[in-house]
Amino acid sequence: NTKLVKIEDTKQIKDEELAEAAQILRDGGLVAFPTETVYGLGANALDEAAAKKIYAAKGRPSDNPLIAHISCLEELKPLVAYIPEAGRKLAEAYWPGPLTMVFPKSDIVPYGTTGGLDTVAVRMPSDPVANRLIKLAGVPVAAPSANTSGRPSPTTAQHVWQDMEGKIEMILDGGPVGIGVESTIVDVSGDVPTLLRPGAITMEMLRETVGRVEIDPAIQAPPSADLRPKAPGMKYRHYAPHADLQLVEGETDKVVETINALVKEKLAEGKKVGVICTDETKDRFPQGEVRSVGLRAKEETIAHNLFAVLREFDDLDVDCIYSESFSKDHLGQAIMNRLTKAAGYHVLKV
Ligand code: TXA
Ligand code: MG
Repeated sequence: NTKLVKIEDTKQIKDEELAEAAQILRDGGLVAFPTETVYGLGANALDEAAAKKIYAAKGRPSDNPLIAHISCLEELKPLVAYIPEAGRKLAEAYWPGPLTMVFPKSDIVPYGTTGGLDTVAVRMPSDPVANRLIKLAGVPVAAPSANTSGRPSPTTAQHVWQDMEGKIEMILDGGPVGIGVESTIVDVSGDVPTLLRPGAITMEMLRETVGRVEIDPAIQAPPSADLRPKAPGMKYRHYAPHADLQLVEGETDKVVETINALVKEKLAEGKKVGVICTDETKDRFPQGEVRSVGLRAKEETIAHNLFAVLREFDDLDVDCIYSESFSKDHLGQAIMNRLTKAAGYHVLKV
């Protein structure tokens, strides 16, 4: 019996609305809450037993580390051994916001939260519900995305309900999230800041703030035995749709023509086929289950809708999906990172 609590007005949150959720977190329970990126599944990050419950609710391997969420800069210090220069600059530029940084951890952060690592990932969300909840809880809040392991991250409270009903104490409904893809993760614990997961704080933005930033090779390549990713989560099979997803990359007319030919072929075989396209092209696909993810000219609309569309296709139970692809610049890097993984690196160049 999961309690669903709707936040009346997210611009004017009353502390009374969040008091019970904060108490559940302090008592070692689980509360799902909105953030500006995706919905998170929260527990007290300093309580190993609470962290264990997160892994159980998600069905997630327990060596996959969690992100500790804080509400203000003063809450960072107790969690980390020290704050590297790059971390200080990036925090100043992008916190609160969709940026997670990996720091050398302090002794108070249990290994049950960091998956056994000596580092801790920390994020300060800007979403008013998330930020206020963490403040009221009075403890750092460990929160992975609030989906069952292997499903797309939830961008609405309804998505969370589908996956978590009966498994957690409470879901806070703050409406649909703003960004729609998970936070950028940067490791600042080494000599050169390293991008571990692309997100809304883009590579271009990071470089503007701290100069040199490296990219972990595991971001672009499929997982392999000899590639030991820095972010342990990367070694796990990421979200993959039930259907066989294929990206088609190239000049627009050619992409549309190729997808239509493939759809026709699969339909003739008696298959149920999905198409992921954009507002600019949606009228050019006469057959199949056609879904636009947004306006190509406005990348943020694509990030915003991507996971919801993937969930919809899972519910529709299509056999195969063909998707347009996107530029890898700016927010496109995050979009293509999630799509390429979902496609199992299956990209058709035309
Ligand atoms: O936007 C987000 O970051 C969302 C919202 C809820 O804040 N949270 C989220 O958490 O995406 P999650 O658990 O789905 O992703 C956490 C990932 C891990 O899989 C791992 O790749 C990386 O963060 N991570 C966490 N701690 C780390 C550490 N100490 N070193 C390296 N990577 C770490
Ligand atoms: Mg996740």
